[in-house]
Amino acid sequence: MGRTLVICKPDAVERGLVGDIIGRMEARGLRLVACDLRMIDADVARRHYAEHEAKPFFAGLVEFITRSPAMVMVVDGPENTVKMVRSLMGATDPVDAAPGTIRGDLATEMTENLIHGSDSTESAAREIRLFFPRLD
Ligand code: RTP
Ligand code: MG
Repeated sequence: MGRTLVICKPDAVERGLVGDIIGRMEARGLRLVACDLRMIDADVARRHYAEHEAKPFFAGLVEFITRSPAMVMVVDGPENTVKMVRSLMGATDPVDAAPGTIRGDLATEMTENLIHGSDSTESAAREIRLFFPRLD
């Protein structure tokens, strides 16, 4: 069994695309084990995206992810759940994202690319502890 952290980013909530995004994961056979619509505060956002701290887009990324509520969730599935969610998401830049993927079907901007999914099982464990510290 595998587990990953998914965030329907503020743009997804604002555009009413959360149901579509969750539906794609559920239809694929993945299951929600935790889900919370919340404002992500700047401290949590900075820790979540710590790997990008030194990059020029960091401040804008933190501003974006904290601007309105996001749907934060933990998703369970087979051992390769991290990889499955990444392939459902599509490439980081929607211009490069294949049709059929969430970003490839629904997004146009790198800065407003709708969904976050952990990029490794190690990141997933760290991010799940950050957002859902009481989930075992
Ligand atoms: P995410 O972490 O949000 O799931 O996205 P990702 O793994 O596909 O991409 P990542 O490299 O982790 O980048 C995090 C977010 O930062 C923005 N970004 N901008 N201007 C740029 O070159 C640039 N690179 C990344 C994107 O919004 C990306 O989702
Ligand atoms: Mg990432």
